Amino acid sequence: MNNPIAHIDAELTRLKEASLYRSMKTLNSEQGTTVMLEKEKESTVSDVPRLLLSSNSYLNMATEMRVKQAAAAAALKWGAGSGGSRLTTGNFGLHRQLEKALAKFKGREAALLFNTGYTANVGIISALMDESSLIFSDEYNHASIIDGCRLSRAKIIVYRHNDMASLEEKLKANPTEKGLIVSDAVFSMDGDIVNLPELVALGRKYGCLTMIDEAHATGVIGSKGHGTEEYFIDKGYKKEDIMPDILMGTLSKALGAEGGFAAASQNIIDYLVNKARSFIFSTSQAPATLAAALEALNIVEAEPQHVVSLQHNVEVFCNALTENGVPTKSETPIIPIVIGDEAKAMQVAAAVEEAGIMVPAIRYPTVAKGTARLRVALMADHTEEELTRAAMVIAEAMK
Ligand SMILES: Cc1ncc(COP(=O)(O)O)c(C=O)c1O
Repeated sequence: MNNPIAHIDAELTRLKEASLYRSMKTLNSEQGTTVMLEKEKESTVSDVPRLLLSSNSYLNMATEMRVKQAAAAAALKWGAGSGGSRLTTGNFGLHRQLEKALAKFKGREAALLFNTGYTANVGIISALMDESSLIFSDEYNHASIIDGCRLSRAKIIVYRHNDMASLEEKLKANPTEKGLIVSDAVFSMDGDIVNLPELVALGRKYGCLTMIDEAHATGVIGSKGHGTEEYFIDKGYKKEDIMPDILMGTLSKALGAEGGFAAASQNIIDYLVNKARSFIFSTSQAPATLAAALEALNIVEAEPQHVVSLQHNVEVFCNALTENGVPTKSETPIIPIVIGDEAKAMQVAAAVEEAGIMVPAIRYPTVAKGTARLRVALMADHTEEELTRAAMVIAEAMK
Protein backbone atom coordinates (compact mmCIF):
# COMPACT_ATOMS: atom_id res chain seq x y z
CA MET A 1 0.00 0.00 0.00
CA ASN A 2 1.13 3.57 -0.70
CA ASN A 3 2.78 5.27 2.30
CA PRO A 4 1.44 8.84 2.16
CA ILE A 5 4.24 10.26 4.33
CA ALA A 6 7.13 8.47 2.62
CA HIS A 7 8.14 11.61 0.71
CA ILE A 8 8.19 13.60 3.95
CA ASP A 9 10.54 11.15 5.67
CA ALA A 10 12.73 10.99 2.55
CA GLU A 11 12.99 14.78 2.37
CA LEU A 12 13.86 15.09 6.08
CA THR A 13 16.62 12.50 5.63
CA ARG A 14 17.92 14.31 2.56
CA LEU A 15 17.99 17.65 4.41
CA LYS A 16 19.94 16.10 7.30
CA GLU A 17 22.47 14.47 4.95
CA ALA A 18 23.00 17.77 3.11
CA SER A 19 23.49 19.76 6.38
CA LEU A 20 20.34 21.72 5.46
CA TYR A 21 18.03 20.50 8.23
CA ARG A 22 16.64 23.34 10.33
CA SER A 23 15.63 23.35 13.97
CA MET A 24 14.82 26.10 16.45
CA LYS A 25 16.87 27.40 19.34
CA THR A 26 14.92 28.59 22.39
CA LEU A 27 15.58 31.79 24.29
CA ASN A 28 14.31 32.21 27.82
CA SER A 29 14.86 35.93 28.19
CA GLU A 30 14.00 39.13 26.39
CA GLN A 31 16.06 39.89 23.28
CA GLY A 32 18.82 42.23 24.43
CA THR A 33 22.52 42.12 23.59
CA THR A 34 22.81 39.15 25.97
CA VAL A 35 20.19 36.41 25.98
CA MET A 36 19.56 33.23 27.93
CA LEU A 37 19.79 30.29 25.55
CA GLU A 38 18.13 27.02 26.50
CA LYS A 39 20.63 24.15 26.36
CA GLU A 40 20.04 20.45 26.83
CA LYS A 41 22.97 18.45 28.15
CA GLU A 42 22.76 14.86 29.33
CA SER A 43 18.97 15.21 29.54
CA THR A 44 19.02 18.24 31.85
CA VAL A 45 17.85 21.58 30.52
CA SER A 46 19.39 24.85 31.68
CA ASP A 47 19.72 28.41 30.41
CA VAL A 48 23.14 29.78 29.51
CA PRO A 49 24.01 33.42 28.73
CA ARG A 50 25.07 34.19 25.17
CA LEU A 51 26.15 37.44 23.54
CA LEU A 52 23.58 37.89 20.77
CA LEU A 53 25.17 38.90 17.50
CA SER A 54 22.35 38.15 15.09
CA SER A 55 19.24 40.00 16.19
CA ASN A 56 17.25 42.32 13.94
CA SER A 57 16.40 44.48 16.96
CA TYR A 58 19.15 46.81 15.71
CA LEU A 59 18.29 49.72 17.99
CA ASN A 60 17.38 47.58 21.03
CA MET A 61 13.82 48.83 20.87
CA ALA A 62 12.44 45.34 21.67
CA THR A 63 13.79 45.77 25.21
CA GLU A 64 13.60 49.57 25.58
CA MET A 65 11.64 50.33 28.76
CA ARG A 66 9.51 53.12 27.21
CA VAL A 67 8.50 50.79 24.39
CA LYS A 68 7.58 47.96 26.76
CA GLN A 69 5.60 50.38 28.93
CA ALA A 70 3.72 51.72 25.91
CA ALA A 71 2.83 48.14 24.92
CA ALA A 72 1.66 47.30 28.45
CA ALA A 73 -0.41 50.48 28.75
CA ALA A 74 -2.06 49.86 25.37
CA ALA A 75 -2.96 46.28 26.30
CA LEU A 76 -4.59 47.57 29.49
CA LYS A 77 -6.48 50.35 27.71
CA TRP A 78 -7.40 48.74 24.39
CA GLY A 79 -7.36 45.02 25.21
CA ALA A 80 -5.25 42.05 24.17
CA GLY A 81 -6.49 41.59 20.61
CA SER A 82 -8.15 43.72 17.96
CA GLY A 83 -11.12 41.44 17.40
CA GLY A 84 -11.53 41.95 13.66
CA SER A 85 -9.96 42.87 10.36
CA ARG A 86 -9.42 46.57 9.58
CA LEU A 87 -12.41 46.69 7.23
CA THR A 88 -14.79 45.14 9.75
CA THR A 89 -14.37 45.91 13.47
CA GLY A 90 -10.58 45.91 13.94
CA ASN A 91 -9.64 49.47 12.96
CA PHE A 92 -8.59 51.41 16.06
CA GLY A 93 -7.41 54.97 16.52
CA LEU A 94 -4.00 53.46 17.25
CA HIS A 95 -3.78 52.00 13.73
CA ARG A 96 -4.51 55.40 12.20
CA GLN A 97 -2.06 57.15 14.50
CA LEU A 98 0.76 54.75 13.65
CA GLU A 99 0.01 54.99 9.91
CA LYS A 100 0.16 58.77 10.09
CA ALA A 101 3.48 58.63 11.94
CA LEU A 102 4.92 56.13 9.43
CA ALA A 103 3.81 58.25 6.45
CA LYS A 104 5.52 61.28 8.01
CA PHE A 105 8.67 59.30 8.88
CA LYS A 106 8.91 58.10 5.29
CA GLY A 107 7.88 61.37 3.65
CA ARG A 108 4.82 59.98 1.85
CA GLU A 109 1.14 60.97 1.70
CA ALA A 110 -0.11 57.86 3.42
CA ALA A 111 0.81 54.49 4.90
CA LEU A 112 -0.96 51.18 5.44
CA LEU A 113 -0.21 48.57 8.09
CA PHE A 114 0.01 44.83 7.52
CA ASN A 115 0.37 42.16 10.20
CA THR A 116 3.95 41.29 9.26
CA GLY A 117 6.56 42.35 6.75
CA TYR A 118 6.02 39.03 5.01
CA THR A 119 2.30 39.61 4.51
CA ALA A 120 2.99 43.21 3.46
CA ASN A 121 5.17 42.10 0.55
CA VAL A 122 2.85 39.29 -0.44
CA GLY A 123 -0.22 41.55 -0.23
CA ILE A 124 1.23 44.62 -1.94
CA ILE A 125 2.83 42.86 -4.90
CA SER A 126 -0.03 40.47 -5.59
CA ALA A 127 -2.49 43.40 -5.47
CA LEU A 128 -0.52 45.62 -7.84
CA MET A 129 0.38 43.04 -10.47
CA ASP A 130 -1.52 40.34 -12.35
CA GLU A 131 -1.06 37.79 -15.15
CA SER A 132 -0.73 40.57 -17.72
CA SER A 133 2.17 42.19 -15.84
CA LEU A 134 5.94 41.90 -15.74
CA ILE A 135 7.91 42.07 -12.51
CA PHE A 136 11.64 42.84 -12.59
CA SER A 137 13.11 41.39 -9.41
CA ASP A 138 16.67 41.44 -7.98
CA GLU A 139 18.10 37.92 -7.75
CA TYR A 140 18.82 38.37 -4.00
CA ASN A 141 15.36 39.63 -3.05
CA HIS A 142 13.81 38.38 0.17
CA ALA A 143 11.57 35.30 0.07
CA SER A 144 8.49 37.40 0.88
CA ILE A 145 9.04 39.46 -2.29
CA ILE A 146 9.53 36.29 -4.31
CA ASP A 147 6.33 34.80 -2.87
CA GLY A 148 4.40 38.01 -3.61
CA CYS A 149 5.63 37.93 -7.19
CA ARG A 150 4.61 34.29 -7.60
CA LEU A 151 1.17 34.87 -6.07
CA SER A 152 0.52 37.75 -8.47
CA ARG A 153 0.86 35.36 -11.47
CA ALA A 154 2.88 38.02 -13.29
CA LYS A 155 5.84 37.00 -15.43
CA ILE A 156 8.92 37.33 -13.19
CA ILE A 157 12.14 38.56 -14.77
CA VAL A 158 15.13 38.26 -12.45
CA TYR A 159 18.06 40.64 -12.93
CA ARG A 160 21.61 40.28 -11.58
CA HIS A 161 22.08 41.39 -8.01
CA ASN A 162 21.98 45.21 -7.72
CA ASP A 163 23.25 45.41 -11.30
CA MET A 164 21.46 48.29 -13.02
CA ALA A 165 22.95 47.42 -16.43
CA SER A 166 21.40 43.97 -16.13
CA LEU A 167 18.08 45.54 -15.08
CA GLU A 168 18.10 47.92 -18.04
CA GLU A 169 18.93 45.12 -20.45
CA LYS A 170 15.87 43.19 -19.19
CA LEU A 171 13.64 46.29 -19.31
CA LYS A 172 14.70 47.01 -22.88
CA ALA A 173 14.06 43.43 -24.01
CA ASN A 174 10.65 43.21 -22.28
CA PRO A 175 8.53 46.32 -22.88
CA THR A 176 5.38 46.38 -20.77
CA GLU A 177 2.47 48.65 -19.93
CA LYS A 178 2.12 47.16 -16.47
CA GLY A 179 5.48 46.61 -14.86
CA LEU A 180 7.05 46.69 -11.41
CA ILE A 181 10.70 46.88 -10.43
CA VAL A 182 11.17 45.53 -6.90
CA SER A 183 14.22 45.26 -4.70
CA ASP A 184 15.37 44.89 -1.12
CA ALA A 185 16.76 48.24 0.09
CA VAL A 186 19.34 46.71 2.44
CA PHE A 187 19.79 43.11 1.30
CA SER A 188 18.89 40.88 4.21
CA MET A 189 21.68 38.33 3.88
CA ASP A 190 24.41 40.49 2.32
CA GLY A 191 23.92 43.87 3.99
CA ASP A 192 24.57 45.91 0.84
CA ILE A 193 22.37 48.82 -0.26
CA VAL A 194 20.26 49.06 -3.42
CA ASN A 195 21.33 51.53 -6.10
CA LEU A 196 18.16 53.54 -5.55
CA PRO A 197 18.90 56.55 -7.80
CA GLU A 198 19.45 54.35 -10.87
CA LEU A 199 16.60 52.00 -10.03
CA VAL A 200 14.15 54.90 -9.79
CA ALA A 201 15.53 56.50 -12.97
CA LEU A 202 15.06 53.21 -14.86
CA GLY A 203 11.52 52.87 -13.54
CA ARG A 204 10.69 56.33 -14.88
CA LYS A 205 12.46 55.75 -18.21
CA TYR A 206 10.63 52.48 -18.89
CA GLY A 207 7.27 53.38 -17.29
CA CYS A 208 7.37 50.83 -14.48
CA LEU A 209 6.26 51.17 -10.87
CA THR A 210 9.14 50.99 -8.41
CA MET A 211 9.11 49.47 -4.92
CA ILE A 212 11.80 48.91 -2.32
CA ASP A 213 11.67 46.80 0.81
CA GLU A 214 13.11 48.78 3.71
CA ALA A 215 12.87 46.01 6.31
CA HIS A 216 16.55 46.46 7.20
CA ALA A 217 16.81 50.13 6.21
CA THR A 218 14.15 51.68 8.47
CA GLY A 219 15.85 52.97 11.62
CA VAL A 220 19.16 51.71 10.27
CA ILE A 221 20.55 53.73 7.35
CA GLY A 222 20.57 57.45 6.66
CA SER A 223 22.05 59.87 9.19
CA LYS A 224 18.81 59.85 11.24
CA GLY A 225 17.67 56.33 10.40
CA HIS A 226 14.91 57.35 7.99
CA GLY A 227 16.11 54.81 5.46
CA THR A 228 17.32 54.58 1.90
CA GLU A 229 16.18 57.94 0.58
CA GLU A 230 17.89 59.72 3.48
CA TYR A 231 21.06 57.66 2.86
CA PHE A 232 21.22 58.96 -0.72
CA ILE A 233 20.11 62.50 0.20
CA ASP A 234 23.06 62.55 2.64
CA LYS A 235 25.23 61.83 -0.42
CA GLY A 236 23.83 64.84 -2.27
CA TYR A 237 20.89 63.41 -4.26
CA LYS A 238 17.60 65.31 -4.49
CA LYS A 239 14.65 63.58 -2.86
CA GLU A 240 12.39 64.04 -5.88
CA ASP A 241 14.89 62.17 -8.08
CA ILE A 242 15.12 59.09 -5.90
CA MET A 243 11.58 58.44 -4.71
CA PRO A 244 10.25 54.98 -5.53
CA ASP A 245 6.46 54.69 -5.84
CA ILE A 246 6.19 52.33 -2.89
CA LEU A 247 8.28 52.06 0.24
CA MET A 248 7.60 48.86 2.09
CA GLY A 249 8.96 48.39 5.59
CA THR A 250 8.71 46.38 8.78
CA LEU A 251 8.09 47.21 12.42
CA SER A 252 9.74 43.96 13.47
CA LYS A 253 13.39 44.89 13.17
CA ALA A 254 14.86 48.27 14.23
CA LEU A 255 11.46 49.26 15.65
CA GLY A 256 11.48 46.20 17.90
CA ALA A 257 7.81 45.26 17.50
CA GLU A 258 5.97 43.34 14.77
CA GLY A 259 4.21 44.23 11.54
CA GLY A 260 4.77 45.59 8.07
CA PHE A 261 3.69 48.65 6.13
CA ALA A 262 3.49 50.33 2.76
CA ALA A 263 4.14 54.07 2.46
CA ALA A 264 3.06 55.66 -0.83
CA SER A 265 0.74 58.16 -2.48
CA GLN A 266 -2.84 58.26 -1.17
CA ASN A 267 -4.24 56.61 -4.30
CA ILE A 268 -1.85 53.64 -4.06
CA ILE A 269 -2.77 53.20 -0.38
CA ASP A 270 -6.52 53.44 -1.20
CA TYR A 271 -5.98 50.80 -3.89
CA LEU A 272 -4.20 48.48 -1.43
CA VAL A 273 -7.03 48.87 1.11
CA ASN A 274 -9.38 47.59 -1.57
CA LYS A 275 -7.18 44.95 -3.18
CA ALA A 276 -4.46 43.58 -0.88
CA ARG A 277 -5.83 40.25 0.30
CA SER A 278 -3.39 39.82 3.21
CA PHE A 279 -4.63 43.20 4.49
CA ILE A 280 -8.33 42.52 3.94
CA PHE A 281 -8.68 38.93 5.12
CA SER A 282 -6.76 38.94 8.40
CA THR A 283 -7.38 40.17 11.94
CA SER A 284 -5.49 43.41 12.47
CA GLN A 285 -2.51 43.89 14.77
CA ALA A 286 -2.96 43.87 18.53
CA PRO A 287 -2.99 47.20 20.40
CA ALA A 288 0.22 46.41 22.34
CA THR A 289 2.11 45.85 19.08
CA LEU A 290 0.88 49.11 17.58
CA ALA A 291 1.70 51.16 20.67
CA ALA A 292 5.17 49.60 20.91
CA ALA A 293 5.96 50.43 17.29
CA LEU A 294 4.62 53.98 17.66
CA GLU A 295 6.71 54.61 20.76
CA ALA A 296 9.83 53.17 19.08
CA LEU A 297 9.24 55.35 16.02
CA ASN A 298 8.93 58.45 18.23
CA ILE A 299 12.16 57.54 20.02
CA VAL A 300 14.06 57.02 16.76
CA GLU A 301 12.78 60.37 15.49
CA ALA A 302 13.64 62.26 18.69
CA GLU A 303 16.92 60.54 19.63
CA PRO A 304 19.26 60.06 16.65
CA GLN A 305 21.99 58.85 19.01
CA HIS A 306 20.69 55.27 18.76
CA VAL A 307 21.28 55.21 15.00
CA VAL A 308 24.64 56.94 15.40
CA SER A 309 25.74 54.34 17.94
CA LEU A 310 24.62 51.48 15.65
CA GLN A 311 26.54 52.93 12.73
CA HIS A 312 29.61 53.41 14.95
CA ASN A 313 29.41 49.75 16.00
CA VAL A 314 29.52 48.68 12.35
CA GLU A 315 32.87 50.42 12.01
CA VAL A 316 34.21 48.98 15.26
CA PHE A 317 33.27 45.41 14.34
CA CYS A 318 34.50 45.57 10.73
CA ASN A 319 37.84 46.99 11.90
CA ALA A 320 38.19 44.33 14.59
CA LEU A 321 37.48 41.49 12.16
CA THR A 322 39.91 42.94 9.64
CA GLU A 323 42.61 43.22 12.32
CA ASN A 324 42.01 39.55 13.11
CA GLY A 325 42.67 38.50 9.53
CA VAL A 326 39.11 38.50 8.15
CA PRO A 327 38.94 41.56 5.85
CA THR A 328 35.44 43.01 6.26
CA LYS A 329 33.60 46.10 5.07
CA SER A 330 29.97 47.03 5.52
CA GLU A 331 27.81 50.14 5.55
CA THR A 332 25.05 48.38 7.46
CA PRO A 333 24.81 46.27 10.63
CA ILE A 334 24.23 43.14 8.52
CA ILE A 335 27.69 41.66 8.08
CA PRO A 336 27.89 38.36 6.23
CA ILE A 337 30.92 36.21 6.98
CA VAL A 338 30.78 33.81 4.08
CA ILE A 339 32.15 30.34 4.79
CA GLY A 340 30.83 28.50 1.74
CA ASP A 341 30.34 24.87 2.66
CA GLU A 342 27.15 24.23 4.64
CA ALA A 343 28.63 21.69 7.08
CA LYS A 344 31.67 23.90 7.75
CA ALA A 345 29.40 26.90 8.42
CA MET A 346 27.48 24.82 10.97
CA GLN A 347 30.77 23.80 12.66
CA VAL A 348 31.98 27.40 12.87
CA ALA A 349 28.62 28.58 14.28
CA ALA A 350 28.75 25.78 16.89
CA ALA A 351 32.32 26.70 17.91
CA VAL A 352 31.38 30.38 18.20
CA GLU A 353 28.36 29.47 20.27
CA GLU A 354 30.43 27.27 22.55
CA ALA A 355 32.59 30.37 23.16
CA GLY A 356 29.51 32.28 24.31
CA ILE A 357 28.33 34.06 21.16
CA MET A 358 25.14 33.37 19.25
CA VAL A 359 25.37 33.81 15.47
CA PRO A 360 23.41 31.20 13.51
CA ALA A 361 24.72 29.85 10.22
CA ILE A 362 22.55 30.79 7.24
CA ARG A 363 22.28 28.16 4.53
CA TYR A 364 20.44 27.25 1.35
CA PRO A 365 17.65 28.01 0.49
CA THR A 366 17.96 31.33 2.36
CA VAL A 367 21.21 31.92 0.45
CA ALA A 368 22.61 30.19 -2.65
CA LYS A 369 24.11 26.70 -2.27
CA GLY A 370 27.81 26.83 -1.35
CA THR A 371 27.54 30.36 0.11
CA ALA A 372 26.63 29.41 3.68
CA ARG A 373 27.59 32.13 6.11
CA LEU A 374 27.47 33.53 9.58
CA ARG A 375 25.09 36.45 9.34
CA VAL A 376 26.24 38.90 11.95
CA ALA A 377 23.73 41.59 12.88
CA LEU A 378 24.85 44.32 15.25
CA MET A 379 22.89 46.30 17.80
CA ALA A 380 23.28 49.89 18.99
CA ASP A 381 23.85 48.73 22.58
CA HIS A 382 26.73 46.33 21.87
CA THR A 383 29.85 47.60 23.62
CA GLU A 384 33.21 47.98 21.87
CA GLU A 385 34.61 45.34 24.21
CA GLU A 386 31.89 42.84 23.24
CA LEU A 387 32.43 43.48 19.54
CA THR A 388 36.19 43.20 19.75
CA ARG A 389 35.99 39.91 21.61
CA ALA A 390 33.36 38.57 19.20
CA ALA A 391 35.57 39.40 16.22
CA MET A 392 38.47 37.48 17.79
CA VAL A 393 36.29 34.45 18.57
CA ILE A 394 34.84 34.33 15.05
CA ALA A 395 38.26 34.72 13.38
CA GLU A 396 39.68 31.93 15.58
CA ALA A 397 36.74 29.59 14.79
CA MET A 398 37.23 30.10 11.06
CA LYS A 399 40.88 28.93 11.11
C1 LIG B 1 14.01 42.07 3.35
C2 LIG B 1 12.91 41.51 4.21
N1 LIG B 1 11.64 41.74 3.87
C3 LIG B 1 10.62 41.28 4.58
C4 LIG B 1 10.83 40.54 5.74
C5 LIG B 1 9.66 40.02 6.50
O1 LIG B 1 9.42 40.83 7.59
P1 LIG B 1 8.73 40.26 8.90
O2 LIG B 1 9.76 39.49 9.64
O3 LIG B 1 8.28 41.48 9.61
O4 LIG B 1 7.60 39.40 8.46
C6 LIG B 1 12.14 40.30 6.15
C7 LIG B 1 12.45 39.60 7.41
O5 LIG B 1 12.33 38.53 7.70
C8 LIG B 1 13.22 40.77 5.36
O6 LIG B 1 14.47 40.50 5.71
